[in-house]
Amino acid sequence: MKKLLTTFLLLILLAGCVEQVPEIDLILPCEDPNSYLCYLEQPCDIYDGTCDEFAQELLDTLTLEEKVGQMIQTERGSISLDEVKSYNIGSILSGGGSHPNDMYDDYQAWYNMVVDFQEAALSSSSGVPLLYGVDAVHGHNNVYEMTIFPHQINMGIINDPNLTYALSKATAEQLLTTGITWNFAPSLSVNQHIGWGRSYESYGEHPEIFQNLTQSALQGYIDYGIVPTAKHFLADGGTMGIDQGNATINATNLDVHLAPYLEAIETKVPTVMASYSSINGIKMHGSRIYLQELLKDELGFKGFIISDWNAIHQLEGSFYQQIVTSVNAGVDMLMEPYDWKSAYHEMILAVNNNDITLERINDAVFRILRVKFQSNLMTQPTFQLPYTEDMKLDHVLLARELATKSAVLLKHETTLPLNENHKVHLAGPAGDHIGFMSGGWTTNWQGNLDNTFNIGTSLKDGLSQKTTLVNYDQSDVVVIALTETPYAEGFGDQGYPSLTSGNAHPENVQALELAAKAKSDGKTVIGILFSGRPLFLDNHLNTFDTFIAAFLPGSEGGYGLAQLLYGEADFTGKLSYSWPKDTSSWGMTSWQDTYDPNKFLFPYQFGLNYMS
Ligand code: GLC
Repeated sequence: MKKLLTTFLLLILLAGCVEQVPEIDLILPCEDPNSYLCYLEQPCDIYDGTCDEFAQELLDTLTLEEKVGQMIQTERGSISLDEVKSYNIGSILSGGGSHPNDMYDDYQAWYNMVVDFQEAALSSSSGVPLLYGVDAVHGHNNVYEMTIFPHQINMGIINDPNLTYALSKATAEQLLTTGITWNFAPSLSVNQHIGWGRSYESYGEHPEIFQNLTQSALQGYIDYGIVPTAKHFLADGGTMGIDQGNATINATNLDVHLAPYLEAIETKVPTVMASYSSINGIKMHGSRIYLQELLKDELGFKGFIISDWNAIHQLEGSFYQQIVTSVNAGVDMLMEPYDWKSAYHEMILAVNNNDITLERINDAVFRILRVKFQSNLMTQPTFQLPYTEDMKLDHVLLARELATKSAVLLKHETTLPLNENHKVHLAGPAGDHIGFMSGGWTTNWQGNLDNTFNIGTSLKDGLSQKTTLVNYDQSDVVVIALTETPYAEGFGDQGYPSLTSGNAHPENVQALELAAKAKSDGKTVIGILFSGRPLFLDNHLNTFDTFIAAFLPGSEGGYGLAQLLYGEADFTGKLSYSWPKDTSSWGMTSWQDTYDPNKFLFPYQFGLNYMS
């Protein structure tokens, strides 16, 4: 760190007193280096060249070994502090659910872990601090007792740039209470098939939503001290429901998948994650045409590209060859959770063999260092934002607003609003389960099945704030809470995702039977579905007087739905995916000229309300 800080501070001083160094419009470190305001004052901008001087000056001091170390990201569980130091590791990640000890670790335990790793990096020969990255894709979802926000599918339904910005800001605050400064979000997958297990990580099927939200999603992170990631480049949402599959791309649909990245670069996005998937049979991680020539050269991306988790192992050849292919294609940092040490040595060998040029290494490290300088990591490598009660309350209130605004009223026959005279019975697997309302990437990679949360408002909690719930026989209204069980990535790929197949919770079956009984008993039947995507409803919709798609609203989902059912708020949500009637509409999405809304049960942007 001494060499680094000396360099950086020397540059600051030089900028002020020696003419030959070009004047760099630099914000000097604040008097109170621990203040958030100071932390937010970015010393330079990677897109206007003001970080170049700092990065080049530091790059010129590094050995080949120190440079290669910067290009390696390892998983926290597979490296010691001494190894972080001796290998000059540039970044560490927590994979989904990779806690310091277990899922009950609070923000302080996370911060203590991050500081340990950071201090090891600062004591390395280069002294360059490391970037710690996580998938905080709907709030800082790994950390116990942190508010879980709605997933991106819900944000696409709201489709409000201001609320998208507010979500990024809140997530940035959560991250900085743990000292983490890099988020692998937002996902810019323009998803064309709801059979994909990552449908809920997308805003929806139409590029117009991404054109409306991408800049706000990124800016909210950048303004509040977080390095965001546009992922997964390119056309990960075009593989027609097959995770890590192949996208058939042509002149018609290339722009659909590219649209969000044009927004991202306009917002000066600092990092991009390459996609596991292929375009027309070409693996993204090995494609120089897409990574170097399109993203960097043509579109002007000035940040750095990180590979996805072990993704280069899917390329042809030996590990050595996979490293050569991906780095020469334009990957700047390798996400090698386990094989980081061999990646390090193979990359050095590749440079010595001139299979990877020193020029390419320097370009990659220059890009990485620029992001580190801009993110203030160099001046405040262990910054922690206090996690105050006011902040926690702000997050809960925001989560409630987002949950309320992202539910979609699909069917309504004069049942709402409920009032104190209604006798309500609640049933179904999601009636009292924060985990099912939150989906994948929640406390663990594949989500939280055990409902082990110490926060939030379940549907039962929310309804109980409005009325005393009664047993079936005493009721005149039955609320049925249906759900998918949580999943992430390929574990959610389904050929026929429905209420009773695919990832559907097995208890949906008896819940639907109860709904049918309630209907035949003359009761009012309200269905609420928690899912990561539209599901085939088959013939079940007829059973319900009212049917609501809540998708994945997060830990305050119960509050939002109770507000809507009891008339405190009206529905405003509009579908960000076309809701299929049957499989005949596979492949038809609303941006296409041939789109026929009549082929769907509910078309793109459908959503009822009941107050006006
Ligand atoms: C995963 C995902 C990617 C995530 C990364 C790190 O496999 O594809 O979205 O950021 O690994 O967890």
